[in-house]
Amino acid sequence: MRRPIFAANWKMHKTLSEAAAFTQEFLPLVAPREGVDIVLCPPFTALGAVAWSVAGSRVALGAQNMYRETHGAFTGEVSPVMLADIGCRYVILGHSERRQYFGERDDLINQKVKAAFAHGLTPILCVGETLAEREEGRTEAVCRSQALACTEGLSAEQAATLVIAYEPVWAIGTGRNCAAADAQATVALIRSLLAGRFGESAAASLRIQYGGSVKPGNTAEYMALPDVDGALVGGASLEAVSFAAICQAGAVR
Ligand code: PGA
Repeated sequence: MRRPIFAANWKMHKTLSEAAAFTQEFLPLVAPREGVDIVLCPPFTALGAVAWSVAGSRVALGAQNMYRETHGAFTGEVSPVMLADIGCRYVILGHSERRQYFGERDDLINQKVKAAFAHGLTPILCVGETLAEREEGRTEAVCRSQALACTEGLSAEQAATLVIAYEPVWAIGTGRNCAAADAQATVALIRSLLAGRFGESAAASLRIQYGGSVKPGNTAEYMALPDVDGALVGGASLEAVSFAAICQAGAVR
């Protein structure tokens, strides 16, 4: 059985003191929970503080982005080596906001995914269609092309440990979450595509999250879907009580 994984994507939120206050409140709320992986992805400036707070707990640290190179003249960028060194185990890559506002394309995201694996980080690779693409009936085509382009060149062993987040862009931060049946259909499609490339065994192991307006009240609905293995949570992960309730709802499967 795949172990559910819940990741908090704080985006550009929380100062050091706010991050510390969150972890202090959050850790006791999730301490007894077994059976799910929990990842906090703060902004770069709070990674060190959160790493220190979660050390020895069952909560893991992740980053929201990175560059593909290990070091060099890349002003403003952060490398996979630096993330691993500070204690990250995961890194979100290809988030729709990176694609939309920072021009990231599939080939760069693919290079980042490979660099993450090369340095012992597990990518949380985001794919998903925009509203216009959905309305044009292109959801499958878009998810297919993103999932295949961004995983090109991985080994079956790497693919088996990959985390993918299916996030319909129109559902992110809008309160308009994707119907469960639609999420299942797209997630199942992504899994079958990756089975074609990496084999059934790898595809059966890799975890696929749903993301987009996940809240405590709708988590159970997604977790009841056979191919959904957790959630990538933005807005509802900013409050400790709310993100803990989401992790708890996911622990019942
Ligand atoms: P949301 O964001 O939960 O606020 O919709 C999800 C995401 O962007 O990962």
